[in-house]
Amino acid sequence: MTSTKEQDNIQHAGEHRTVAIMGLGYVGLPLAMLFAKHGFTVIGIDPDASKIGKLQQGISYIHEMNDADIREAMESERLLPTTQYSAAAAAEAIIICVPTPLTSHGTPDLGYLTMAANQIGSGIRKGQLVVLESSTYPGTTKEVLLPCLSKSGLKAGEDFFVAYSPERVDPGNEQFPIHRIPKIVSGISERCRERVTELYGRIFPKVHPVSSTDAAEMTKILENAYRLINISFINEMAIACDKLGLDIWEVVRAASTKPFGYHPFYPGPGIGGHCIPVDPSYLQWKLKQHGMTSDFISIANNTNHRMPLYVIQQLKEAIAPKKLSGASILVYGAAYKPDIADYRESASLDMIDLLRLEGASVQYHDPYVASLKIGDVKMTSVELSEELLRGLDAVIIATNHSNMPLDDLLEHAPLVYDTRNVTAAREGRAAIIRLGSGK
Ligand SMILES: NC(=O)c1ccc[n+]([C@@H]2O[C@H](COP(=O)([O-])OP(=O)(O)OC[C@H]3O[C@@H](n4cnc5c(N)ncnc54)[C@H](O)[C@@H]3O)[C@@H](O)[C@H]2O)c1
Repeated sequence: MTSTKEQDNIQHAGEHRTVAIMGLGYVGLPLAMLFAKHGFTVIGIDPDASKIGKLQQGISYIHEMNDADIREAMESERLLPTTQYSAAAAAEAIIICVPTPLTSHGTPDLGYLTMAANQIGSGIRKGQLVVLESSTYPGTTKEVLLPCLSKSGLKAGEDFFVAYSPERVDPGNEQFPIHRIPKIVSGISERCRERVTELYGRIFPKVHPVSSTDAAEMTKILENAYRLINISFINEMAIACDKLGLDIWEVVRAASTKPFGYHPFYPGPGIGGHCIPVDPSYLQWKLKQHGMTSDFISIANNTNHRMPLYVIQQLKEAIAPKKLSGASILVYGAAYKPDIADYRESASLDMIDLLRLEGASVQYHDPYVASLKIGDVKMTSVELSEELLRGLDAVIIATNHSNMPLDDLLEHAPLVYDTRNVTAAREGRAAIIRLGSGK
């Protein structure tokens, strides 16, 4: 709910240097804070009342955004969080950062986007700029967003402006925070592109315009497909190294000494997150309409889906003659990568599921993920203790959080299956298996 004071603030925000951001998640909140830091008033719109409530209390729900910065933005009235879509009317630009997941059939689910676009379309004003940031297939801005906005009766490119600028943020990456990542911008017309270039030029040191919204959409998918394919390839090579009795980690380290023509990727239990395992399937869907599929994306998806199964199979062999059925297994890490709380599409979920199917008793610990849901099953992160670790049959290290109590795991658990190479050159009482180490 929006209080009277907040409504007043929003009404008096004034159009110039006021943006509305729809969707305050991993992408929208950091972007909102960046605009606020540059003196903009940011109307943050999200239907999730619990997120809005936390922001109003000065509490961050994203690990890399701290409470003090949120509080400062709230107190200076640079950040105006609300669940009310009508608040966007006060902004010079409306930026869409809503989820773009897959349906249960693996096809694009643009439900969040069309809902946001229809909400904007119902109240859009002359002069406003609408920017889509969500990752999606080439054509979405023109074929999906634009028709929703045009229902207003106003003319795109003349009365209002439409742009696409893919978000390239990498949560948890301290070397490249949002403002250090060059911003790709595009518009459905020259004027639209000028508007978005000018807006983002005010907060990003580097803005890179491209010729069309389709090209900008494809750029984002290319980046993520490149990662999907290469990480899947290195995972396949990890399995190959296991077969050949070689250590993939040593091989990658050696290959990385080449000063040109090689970029290192690292193995793991499977690729997670809302982007890399998802976005390439958006392209695949679009390509099917043009009578083709990307073989590389298909193979990479298959390899990626097989990885959790490979880990569980290896664990099964390692604990034999004991069976997984009835074994007590702890998965360390639910997040798909270190030091963040995002567990969407995480391989940990698949491994937990597979272990359950084998009849194992599964628990997990993640300092950032207090609870999670896999289908209808709700789980809560357990506290680690010597007693708990001693009572286990094995620990799977799924996520390499930097505050992992590795000494405790190695000292008290009987067996550690390490999918992230954190136990290299380490010893303890635990038997250790490292993914791709040939042992
Ligand atoms: N998470 C990443 O690392 C990352 C990086 C780059 C790009 N992206 C892309 O950015 C987009 C958003 O991803 P995210 O990770 O921030 O998702 P998220 O789930 O963390 O946040 C999305 C937010 O949008 C809100 N929302 C849903 N419908 C809405 C509506 N109609 N109006 C306003 N808000 C609405 C949700 O409540 C949620 O808070 C996706 O397209 C994703 O592919 C994500």
